[in-house]
Amino acid sequence: MSIFLINLARKLTVRNRYVVVCLSLAPGHVGAGFWGDVRNCDLPYWTAEVMLKYASELEKVDFVYYTGDLPPHNVWNQSQEQQLYSLKTINQLLAETFPNVTFYSAVGNHEAAPCNLFPTPNIQSSNISWLYHALADSWINLGLPDDTRETIERGAFYTTVVRPGLRVISLNMNYCSAENFWLFINSTDPLEQLQWMINWLQYAEDHGEKVHIIGHIPPKACLASFSWNFHKIVNRYENTISGQFYGHTHNDEFFINYDELDPKRPVSMGYITPSLTTFSNLNPGYRVYKIDGYYPDSSYWVLDHRTVIMNLTATNLYNRTIFVDEYDARYAYQMDNLFPDDWHNFVQRLEIDMDGPLMSLVYQYYTKSYANGTQCDHNCRRGLLCDFVTSRAEDPHPCDAIPN
Ligand SMILES: *[C@@H]1O[C@H](CO)[C@@H](O)[C@H](O)[C@H]1NC(C)=O
Ligand SMILES: *[C@@H]1O[C@H](CO)[C@@H](O)[C@H](O)[C@H]1NC(C)=O
Ligand SMILES: *[C@@H]1O[C@H](CO)[C@@H](O)[C@H](O)[C@H]1NC(C)=O
Ligand SMILES: *[C@@H]1O[C@H](CO)[C@@H](O)[C@H](O)[C@H]1NC(C)=O
Ligand SMILES: *[C@@H]1O[C@H](CO)[C@@H](O)[C@H](O)[C@H]1NC(C)=O
Ligand SMILES: *[C@@H]1O[C@H](CO)[C@@H](O)[C@H](O)[C@H]1NC(C)=O
Ligand SMILES: *[C@@H]1O[C@H](CO)[C@@H](O)[C@H](O)[C@H]1NC(C)=O
Ligand SMILES: [Zn+2]
Repeated sequence: MSIFLINLARKLTVRNRYVVVCLSLAPGHVGAGFWGDVRNCDLPYWTAEVMLKYASELEKVDFVYYTGDLPPHNVWNQSQEQQLYSLKTINQLLAETFPNVTFYSAVGNHEAAPCNLFPTPNIQSSNISWLYHALADSWINLGLPDDTRETIERGAFYTTVVRPGLRVISLNMNYCSAENFWLFINSTDPLEQLQWMINWLQYAEDHGEKVHIIGHIPPKACLASFSWNFHKIVNRYENTISGQFYGHTHNDEFFINYDELDPKRPVSMGYITPSLTTFSNLNPGYRVYKIDGYYPDSSYWVLDHRTVIMNLTATNLYNRTIFVDEYDARYAYQMDNLFPDDWHNFVQRLEIDMDGPLMSLVYQYYTKSYANGTQCDHNCRRGLLCDFVTSRAEDPHPCDAIPN
């Protein structure tokens, strides 16, 4: 799970996994540390608990974007009951830790049982309403208005107004994903979710609202047809969409959407927020976005973001929680602003000195400072830069411009 703690020129985002799957390893191997382990392990509940408590005491939080994946990675041994237990346990912890804060949630791929499998309504042999009912109850309990229930129960997506002039659209990205095998039967805009999103973006444009899109899987990790259509929509509504927030990869990443007709003109920003889970070779972390929320006439664009990590090595070593203010984007990257143009310029600076210290820093943060730049060679760096300028699946062209 990624928690995007949103701070409205000031806002806070969380993304989380909390159960250790590797308390015991084979004889002769060192077991997991009390606070967690960076091998193929998720986070112990108590580590998530102290980290959230730390955030709640330190950060000024206006609302939270929260992009799913609550169950751990022992996917071969999960039942509907266990998924519902994860949902209930973690959402209760969030409600207790952040009283009176509204959480805008999105559903992850791990919430289903078996994971990834989200049947569409025309499938007779499988039914996911056990999950969508629970999500509706749980999300409304975390502050969503009652009128979101209808679409959550239908497909685990919804829209609502967050602040005057700011609408959030939360998508169920499992209906875009190649890992959702049900889509092989029919992948044409399942549940007509994209058409629904277009209708709301049009409504927002007509009513002068700005829109944040939140979802678990970033669109470039979707089936190509979905992701190219999604990109087209982002292009059409570039003046309405003022930010996209995703999770799923566990890494600290971003991507730029470019104009379809003028591929050098950046039009939108997607932020992939680092996860709370350590899976794999990552420190635990959370992210705070500062968003232009000065009312009236707020742009609701991201003005800056800050990432806080737990140093898991030191925390296990001294058996005392050690948090690190990892970085503030504008300061660390010497950027004027965080608009698409600024990120585009940033990527160009990285391209000029791909093997230099700034790119090392970007890789370090990509791993939430578990690794450093020496662990990312030239090809790895080029791969990251390609990712930053790619917003569509199976689109080879953005990388063409990046020097070898
Ligand atoms: C599978 O889950 C059950 C119930 O939680 C547990 O008792 C069992 O140990 C698990 N098996 C494995 C191999 O993890
Ligand atoms: C939460 O809101 C309620 C009602 O508005 C208020 O009575 C309570 O003091 C608030 N709690 C916190 C911790 O802000
Ligand atoms: C799934 O189950 C719910 C509740 O039991 C029911 O209302 C719905 O019609 C079912 N959907 C399908 C496609 O069978
Ligand atoms: C596939 O689903 C779409 C909408 O979800 C529907 O319009 C279309 O008719 C379906 N195609 C088939 C072959 O069932
Ligand atoms: C984490 O702690 C270890 C052990 O004290 C130290 O070597 C390392 O530099 C620290 N990393 C960060 C990012 O603070
Ligand atoms: C580490 O601290 C926790 C409580 O904070 C305690 O339960 C645990 O026993 C300690 N572990 C060691 C090895 O001292
Ligand atoms: C980077 O990490 C490697 C492997 O953990 C380590 O050997 C090296 O000393 C680190 N370099 C710096 C500059 O911290
Ligand atoms: Zn995921």
